Amino acid sequence: MKVTRATFDEVMVPNYNPASMIPVRGEGSRVWDQDGAEYIDLAGGIAVNVLGHSHPALVAALNEQGSKLWHLSNVFTNEPALRLATKLTNATFAERVYFANSGAEANEAALKLARRFALEKFGEEKNEIIAFNKGFHGRTFFTVTVGGQAAYSDGFGPKPGAVVHCNYNDLAAFEKLISDKTCAVMMEPLQGEGGIISPDPAFVEGVRALCDKHNALLIFDEVQSGVGRTGHLYAYMGLNVVPDILTTAKSLGGGFPIGAMLTTADIAAHLKPGTHGSTYGGNPLACAVAEAAFDVVNTPEVLAGVVEKEALFRDLLTQINDKYHVFDEIRGKGLLLGAALNKDYEGRARDFLVASTNEKLMCLVAGANVVRFAPSLIISEQEIREGMARFERAVAHVVSA
Ligand SMILES: Cc1ncc(COP(=O)(O)O)c(C=O)c1O
Repeated sequence: MKVTRATFDEVMVPNYNPASMIPVRGEGSRVWDQDGAEYIDLAGGIAVNVLGHSHPALVAALNEQGSKLWHLSNVFTNEPALRLATKLTNATFAERVYFANSGAEANEAALKLARRFALEKFGEEKNEIIAFNKGFHGRTFFTVTVGGQAAYSDGFGPKPGAVVHCNYNDLAAFEKLISDKTCAVMMEPLQGEGGIISPDPAFVEGVRALCDKHNALLIFDEVQSGVGRTGHLYAYMGLNVVPDILTTAKSLGGGFPIGAMLTTADIAAHLKPGTHGSTYGGNPLACAVAEAAFDVVNTPEVLAGVVEKEALFRDLLTQINDKYHVFDEIRGKGLLLGAALNKDYEGRARDFLVASTNEKLMCLVAGANVVRFAPSLIISEQEIREGMARFERAVAHVVSA
């Protein structure tokens, strides 16, 4: 059956507006469309394809597990889930893991756990959740309400209550908002969707101290910043702060859907049997692929490579900007980078995205003013240079249009 981009408009719910080409194959950081045109992929499936496309270790894990056992449900546990959870707890502050299928579901679990923990330990008055403007935590109704962009949660009727927002990096405002009624604070330790906004380390430390003072749990949403993305296994490892709960997804499965919530044994104890769950969460196929991805990413070579590749990206983007004067700053950390447009190009990030696609380059936006790059962590130097050469042509096109 022949399908084209036009088919999308005929059979799909119109909540997305995908590119005009349809990718059919990928290898490393290159992707080919239906017509055989080759693209450089600096989008990485929105910070998911941590090892690029068709990485041999992931293909092998998928094939091996695929011929053994796909799915059981949580009536049974399975070996890949137990191995992956052991590796995640060995590598982080956490002692317990809950598996989900996506970032939103991992966050939903984190929020429900925080509410349950506060209710059981301190009583029902302690139920307020503080989150940050421009934050993004997923699209379930709870997580989208906690996310700091009301436009995403408006228009669906009454929202889950006791959720308040504060400006990111504004410790004074946060201090005014937090109280003994606060049960949890949810934040990205590097805001992604909101425009690639780095946290001020003193702000994060201040948030941690105030959470401790008010017995509020600190939840780090590392769905986008985790699994090597910043050059640390998790971004919190580069900040002087340890969260109580951490959520991870996207790069965790290297392209296979999986999410996880990590926490301490004490906190985890409040999700007793029957309080929360998922049919697919911790599925052996997903966990086998994630375990293989984790084994490759959590190595000094890959993590150090992220820092080197960041430097190259910054250098090449700065050279482009010296020539065309389109960006205010290059921001972010590791391989989650944003080129923030200056006043002359305000609101035009999508124009740069479309021009990039025309130059056979896949990249992303983060809001209307930021062009975002979230490539494979093992992208080659040659692919970065070729990608940036294509991006320069896209920038030249937008500037001259
Ligand atoms: C920080 C953060 N949290 C949560 C999510 C939601 O993840 P998912 O789309 O897998 O539900 C995203 C997705 O962009 C994200 O960037």
